[in-house]
Amino acid sequence: MTPTRLDQRRSLVTPVPGPRSSELAARRSSAVPHGVGSSLPIYVESAQGAIVRDVDGNQFIDLGSGIAVTGVGSANPEVAAAVQDTVSRITHTCFMVSPTESYITVAELLNRLTPGDHEKRTLLVNSGSEAVENLAKIARRATGRPAVVVFEGSYHGRTNLTLAMTSKNMPYKQGFGPYAPEVYRAPMSYPFRDGLDGPQAASRAIRWIETYVGAENVAALVIEPIQGEGGFVVPAPGFLPALVDWCHRNGVVFGADEVQSGACRTGDWFACQHEDVIPDLMSMAKGIGGGLPMAAVTGRAEIMDAVQTGGLGGTYGGNPVACAASAAALHYMEDHHLDARAAEIGRRITARLAEVDYPGLAEIRGRGAMIGLEFVRPGTETTTKEPDGEFVAEVMSRCQRAGVILLDCGLDHQVLRLLPPFVIEDSLLDEALDVLIQTIGETAAARS
Ligand SMILES: Cc1ncc(COP(=O)(O)O)c(C=O)c1O
Repeated sequence: MTPTRLDQRRSLVTPVPGPRSSELAARRSSAVPHGVGSSLPIYVESAQGAIVRDVDGNQFIDLGSGIAVTGVGSANPEVAAAVQDTVSRITHTCFMVSPTESYITVAELLNRLTPGDHEKRTLLVNSGSEAVENLAKIARRATGRPAVVVFEGSYHGRTNLTLAMTSKNMPYKQGFGPYAPEVYRAPMSYPFRDGLDGPQAASRAIRWIETYVGAENVAALVIEPIQGEGGFVVPAPGFLPALVDWCHRNGVVFGADEVQSGACRTGDWFACQHEDVIPDLMSMAKGIGGGLPMAAVTGRAEIMDAVQTGGLGGTYGGNPVACAASAAALHYMEDHHLDARAAEIGRRITARLAEVDYPGLAEIRGRGAMIGLEFVRPGTETTTKEPDGEFVAEVMSRCQRAGVILLDCGLDHQVLRLLPPFVIEDSLLDEALDVLIQTIGETAAARS
């Protein structure tokens, strides 16, 4: 039976949250640990395309894509058909025991779609954290060096090694240490806050690494080409190429963490491509799975193959159902040119947001369908650029109540992030932007 497609429209039939969601919130509090948070107070009954429908029948326009996952749309029909076909034939055998073709298919697709025409290999795992952790393992094994250099503000996951790589203490790290050693945090390029151009910011970072770590000790430099959780920070032009150049001169693996920025999100297949950067290793997840848990490390064959047989793997890595979803999603993105569509979405969003007349909106930045709005307290000294997370929280909550899902990011939650699915219709996107623009105005007015 073909599931009914959700009407792609916003509709509110109860206050948010409605009674059924409130009941579930009460059940949740005695069943689920408080350590797991949720941005919205609703519980979802279905999600298709760019619409999320809650258990009370309210329909929300989704500008979050489940944190940059459902670029091809929720329950994309081609992904769903691939999953349905696969799951009735096979659920699991374990690639480390009796392998399946679909793992190879996804590996071939990622080897082809990632930047660079050198020979590549791909390892499949289950989450972004696991991909980043494997990237570090592989780089250490290939170089025989211990240190991993990351950047201020970065987010790389929640396992012990990736928590060591993640910058922000609260809530991610507080009380969970001790953390893995040999992880070093270099200064990032954040043009809005440091005012440096790319080469200047790169020189500062390189000097920092050479002084405090020593190039000969570094296995990998791992960087998000556009920071996700850290605030949609786009490094100044020239920063990434200068780091790649330094890595290559010093035998350091350049690792791009494209877990959030990859899979067409930024208007290109991968964010690195905007500066013609070719990473040695890349971690990917989120969008490559089309909504199912799928993550990968793709990289130069000679680095990937430096690991002994049996040194990489995991029970579920490359699960056939997830592989079917991933292959369908990657084909869908290619066939429908969703990289170009994401670029168009970005132009549409930035053109509309230029209308906002609120002095606290300090910067609109990002690429493609990955756009952040950084808010600061208006009226304060412009040089302090005091982050205004309170304003962002208020806008998000008002938008939720009006039927639009938005997320925040930034070390002080001061950045409103827009991550719409690429399949969103223009009219629906415009409607969501109308709500957002009106809400910013109302929130500003309520303050004054
Ligand atoms: C850049 C980046 N790396 C790693 C991760 C961790 O991915 P996961 O939550 O799938 O473990 C995330 C998650 O948001 C991310 O944005």
